[in-house]
Amino acid sequence: MISILLGAPGVGKGTQAALAAERHGWTHLSTGDLLREEVSAGSALGQEAKAFMDRGDLVPDQVMVSMVAERIAALPKDSVLLLDGFPRSLPQARALEAAAPSGSLGLALYFTASDEVLTARLLGRGRKDDTLEVIQHRLAVYRETTEPLVAFYRDRGLLREIESDREVDAIQEDVLGAVSAVLERPEPA
Ligand code: AP5
Ligand code: MG
Repeated sequence: MISILLGAPGVGKGTQAALAAERHGWTHLSTGDLLREEVSAGSALGQEAKAFMDRGDLVPDQVMVSMVAERIAALPKDSVLLLDGFPRSLPQARALEAAAPSGSLGLALYFTASDEVLTARLLGRGRKDDTLEVIQHRLAVYRETTEPLVAFYRDRGLLREIESDREVDAIQEDVLGAVSAVLERPEPA
């Protein structure tokens, strides 16, 4: 089963996915982490992606889609995949529907918090793209290009909203509840 983690920069997608993966043996795939590994390794892909990331712009869709599609193809059949930071645009969402095995897309967890909370968290984290100027640009890109996915997944009946200005463990309980509900659903006959 594939669960998408959707929400603005700093909302806690990575924090929640890493915790759930550790506790339940699920697979956490963060496209931001994969890109940062490529940048540190100095690969051709990393060199191409770096300028986009430093500015807080999205890396081109075709790069991201092939990165994710090859990993989905390699997944064992019964795994639970937490897809953190992908899709982030309508073309990516459509490509995911094409790449995912039929019926495997089970859930879109939509994490929410105010811009003030997001900005304070990111400034406190201190990654290279966590300067005020880049954070504001990432938030603007999120509103414009990624937020339309909320309606996209709501239309498909996959969206579960999780208020995320709360303690990490309280949010994690909601994540576990939402994923478990999908896993426990009887297979369609
Ligand atoms: P990415 O790494 O995905 O960054 P992001 O979307 O900006 O999101 P963050 O990782 O900053 O936030 P998060 O929601 O994971 O929050 P976190 O758990 O860290 O992407 C980076 C760049 O890569 C993009 O800008 C783009 O260039 C490129 N990219 C990646 N995917 C792409 C794609 N699909 N298409 C195109 N380009 C792509 O938490 C943030 C902080 O808050 C932490 O310090 C954490 O400890 C703290 N925190 C978390 N939860 C709580 C809580 N409940 N209470 C208090 N503090 C908390
Ligand atoms: Mg993250």
